[in-house]
Amino acid sequence: MRQPLVVGNWKMNGSLAKTGDLLHTLSVGINDKIACEVGVCVPFVYLNVAKFAVSDDSLLTIGAQTVSEYDAGAYTGEVSARMLADFGCSWVLVGHSERRTIFNEKNKELVKKTLAAQKNGLTPIYCVGETEADYKSGETFSVIAEQINALLNCDEVDLTQLVLAYEPVWAIGTGLTASPEEAQKVHVFIRDLVKVKNVEAAVKVRILYGGSVKPDNALALFGQEDIDGGLIGGASLDAKAFISICQKA
Ligand code: PGA
Repeated sequence: MRQPLVVGNWKMNGSLAKTGDLLHTLSVGINDKIACEVGVCVPFVYLNVAKFAVSDDSLLTIGAQTVSEYDAGAYTGEVSARMLADFGCSWVLVGHSERRTIFNEKNKELVKKTLAAQKNGLTPIYCVGETEADYKSGETFSVIAEQINALLNCDEVDLTQLVLAYEPVWAIGTGLTASPEEAQKVHVFIRDLVKVKNVEAAVKVRILYGGSVKPDNALALFGQEDIDGGLIGGASLDAKAFISICQKA
């Protein structure tokens, strides 16, 4: 039985004051009445606020939105997995579609980032998804296979210490979502790919859905057998909406 997981991705939003308020409301609202695990991936500069806003006994955990593939040294502007672990992060997003498209991150470096995260005790949330053009030309499954196989082909990746997220790029921030049935098909496809490599990991790995998840569509999505929770962008900036989504997982 996989425990559902809901992770907020704040992207490059917030201010010192807003971040403090949001974290405070969330740390009260995410209580033992919520059955899923909950995390928020905040901008690097607010990790400090997050660390102190979230008490040790809080059920809310924190993470980052990207990480360096390198351990330490002359890499101006980068933040290492070791630093994130030092801050008490549990999660780090790897290969979010905005990193892949805007910052041109490729599978090869994303696998290195996944390894760096795992080596330092963080759980990487490795994101995959097809663009609108891929979707329209019926390429969804081949694109997803390429992104997932990059990870599966690296023997050093621990497939039992990993979360996967399926986020159709055309659904991110657009208000469009894959239908629950359509998303379920892709999740099964991803799980089957993992199964070829490692049966135990395939049963265990949580596969999140992301792309315009809101309180009113969360229940139907999370009700699908292979959708183990969500990666939430816009709605995670609104405490009431985010808590409501968590209640549905
Ligand atoms: P969205 O973003 O919920 O605003 O569509 C999801 C994501 O980018 O992770």
